[in-house]
Amino acid sequence: MKIYVYGVYSDEVPYIKEWQDEHPEVTVETTTELLNEKSVQLAKGSDGVVVFQQKPYPDEALRQLALNGITKMSLRNVGVDNINHQLATELGFQITNVPVYSPAAIAEFSVTQALNLLRRTKEFYLKLAKGDYNWAPHIAKEMNKQVVGIVGTGNIGSTAAKIFAGFGAKVIAYSRHKNKELDGIVEYVSLEELYKRATIISLYLPHVPATDKMLNKETFSMMRDGVLLINTARGPLVDEEALIAALDSGKVGGAALDVMTGETKIFNQQIDEQSVDYNEFKNLVKRPNVLITPHIAFYTDQAIKNMVKMSLSANLDLITTGTSDKLVKF
Ligand code: COI
Repeated sequence: MKIYVYGVYSDEVPYIKEWQDEHPEVTVETTTELLNEKSVQLAKGSDGVVVFQQKPYPDEALRQLALNGITKMSLRNVGVDNINHQLATELGFQITNVPVYSPAAIAEFSVTQALNLLRRTKEFYLKLAKGDYNWAPHIAKEMNKQVVGIVGTGNIGSTAAKIFAGFGAKVIAYSRHKNKELDGIVEYVSLEELYKRATIISLYLPHVPATDKMLNKETFSMMRDGVLLINTARGPLVDEEALIAALDSGKVGGAALDVMTGETKIFNQQIDEQSVDYNEFKNLVKRPNVLITPHIAFYTDQAIKNMVKMSLSANLDLITTGTSDKLVKF
């Protein structure tokens, strides 16, 4: 039995080895290359593939995999928005993801960034770098005085809600499904009420047609002046042009973006910030009240270990039993 693993990062190698030692009946082969039209041939003769990339999986790579008889594909991450669902279904793919690898990794990072915005750390570091050690005018706000609006109370959003509540913030939330675990911790409200009341809004939703650009000119106009925005979910949830206008007018007082609509042009690579072909990024990155990070909320040792080991086990389940508890239902 052979599993071919694409897009392997150095941090993943020890966990792949660990899993291989626990499963001597499986041959695991790896490449640092992402799955694309060319690298697809490397998997020939394998029973399944394990993949991880932010770039879209090319249709042609899926077709070639299927032609080579490989239709068992396991993602090491949670998001499935970079796969052509219709084509994968037509080709008979069975796809698994890792829905819960470490909600705390992402939740903790979103809270960190909310604190960074409140305490104005970027503004201080920028002025300290110029020898300006004055306090004023960068006075901070306290988390325990904030109304935090959590949009989406799945695994990550509810973990974040508990952490924010631990700081003493008032936590309000909107979600299609109410989470019983949050009884006594959050007050569920409508999305409109959340926009109107929150001083910090943090997103924990997938990108689907219904959530595309959900933060836009109209929704920004409902919010409190100076609201802080945290996005560790998916870039396209935010209309970036509308965000720029809202920052210019002061409607939005600061933003922490760990994800961006055009992030595959910039994240996880060496770039020249000012010559990159992405105007919204170039505008946002230079603002003292905007924190841009390269999709790192998930990036912890615990998360990487779970992503690697759970995806390999899911792929093995697909191969040996024809199904998995992590099967994605498109
Ligand atoms: C996910 O698990 O979907 C993430 O957002 C991690 C990412 C680097 C693909």
